[in-house]
Amino acid sequence: MSMNISIIGTGYVGLCTGVGFAKMGNNVICMDVDEKKIKQINKAEPPIYEKQLKKYLENVTAKGVFRATTDLTRAITNSDLTMICVGTPSNQDGSMDLRYIEQVSKDIGTALKNKEGYHVIVVKSTVVPGTTEINVIPHLEEKSGKGVGDDIGVCVNPEFLREGNALEDFLNPDRIVIGQYDKRSGDVLEKIYFNFNAPVLRTNLKTAEMIKYAANAMLATKISLSNEIGNICKRLGIDVYNVMKGVGMDSRISPKFLRAGAGFGGSCFPKDIAAIVAKGKALGYDTQILNTVLNVNKKQRRILVDMLENRTDGLQNKKIAALGLAFKPDSDDVREAPAIDVISMLKERGAKVSAYDPQAMDNMRKMHGDIEYCSNSRECLKDADGCLILTNWKEFKNLSDKDFDVMKNKVIIEGRKVLNPSSVKNFEGICWPGRLAQSKTEYHKDPRRGVD
Ligand code: UGA
Repeated sequence: MSMNISIIGTGYVGLCTGVGFAKMGNNVICMDVDEKKIKQINKAEPPIYEKQLKKYLENVTAKGVFRATTDLTRAITNSDLTMICVGTPSNQDGSMDLRYIEQVSKDIGTALKNKEGYHVIVVKSTVVPGTTEINVIPHLEEKSGKGVGDDIGVCVNPEFLREGNALEDFLNPDRIVIGQYDKRSGDVLEKIYFNFNAPVLRTNLKTAEMIKYAANAMLATKISLSNEIGNICKRLGIDVYNVMKGVGMDSRISPKFLRAGAGFGGSCFPKDIAAIVAKGKALGYDTQILNTVLNVNKKQRRILVDMLENRTDGLQNKKIAALGLAFKPDSDDVREAPAIDVISMLKERGAKVSAYDPQAMDNMRKMHGDIEYCSNSRECLKDADGCLILTNWKEFKNLSDKDFDVMKNKVIIEGRKVLNPSSVKNFEGICWPGRLAQSKTEYHKDPRRGVD
């Protein structure tokens, strides 16, 4: 059953969701205030780097089931269901800045004023629990002059898309969470998922909002816990990846999100956890675990720089190669990437930084304009006194001693487990021993491994 859907906001969630629903047989119109972006999208050129997006965008555009506009009224008038996918940035104190979500609710309300028939509004943006009831519904009702529950339906439908895998995650969800104002709203939304192979969970609005935060908090906690265990493993000469392999075999835990290293970055985990911490505080509850999850995450970055400083006998005037800048591979996104803080610390400690990333250098230039950017790993490593690996890009797997031989001093520290120990002789990891080119006895005595 095909439906006419409008999507407000063409960030990675909005665009991938729109293209995804068009691919699943619906008519989709995307709206954004950014004219340049809309032009690009209508030419089937994705404004962001996302696997498979170009292919699918070309396909749905050619079929005539997907288009983009800057005209919100047109988008609303040509659809029966609207998904709000605008950004929800953070305020200074970590709380959520609801400016865009409130404005768009008002604009949708105004557009609904003269539209006939039942229309469902779906909040897909990640919003703290209570937002849809407090900051969306009143604006919709006031501007449209209509009642939610009568002419307007409202749902919360959180997304669980990973950047870089957004389309794959969209098409193969683990579950579909539908928070509904009333049964009628939920029934309409559930219809657009009829051809997805996933269980549907129906809840009230604020429960669905909380599910999104709790899921991200749980995943981030798994990472910080793995890092904490990893920091102890490092001192014991144990490889935390082997430990977590054994831990993840417990079906109650699952093997996913147990990769220790430089910690999590991106536009979701750091921001969402700060937002739920702030919400707890506003409600008079002092979060303990989540504060620690954030602190452990920040600390990983310093541990990496300390480790390097220690191995290079100080960082003053040393050339340090930073391999990988994106917050994760297959992305050009550097938001909250560990590399940002790591490079700041390296600069503060007097190092000269050279950097390389296959996708994210343009974005990192906006944060750190005064470091050297190189066109490949080898150029970045040339004459370096040390190297930090900060993103697990696939191409780093192919690096070998030949590439690292151009360094002045081969001090190589992995913040992400990616190097191939059979091709690189001398490296170590932040939470794992790595491979050090030493005799077995020397290796066991090496204080770098900690005591065991
Ligand atoms: C995350 C969630 O995984 C999605 O389910 C969610 O929809 C999304 O946030 C969101 O809220 O919109 P994303 O931020 O795109 O997705 O990226 P992840 O793949 O989850 O990685 C986040 C960070 O954690 C990366 O820096 C990654 O390197 C790090 N990470 C991930 C680890 O350090 N260890 C792991 O085991 C897994």
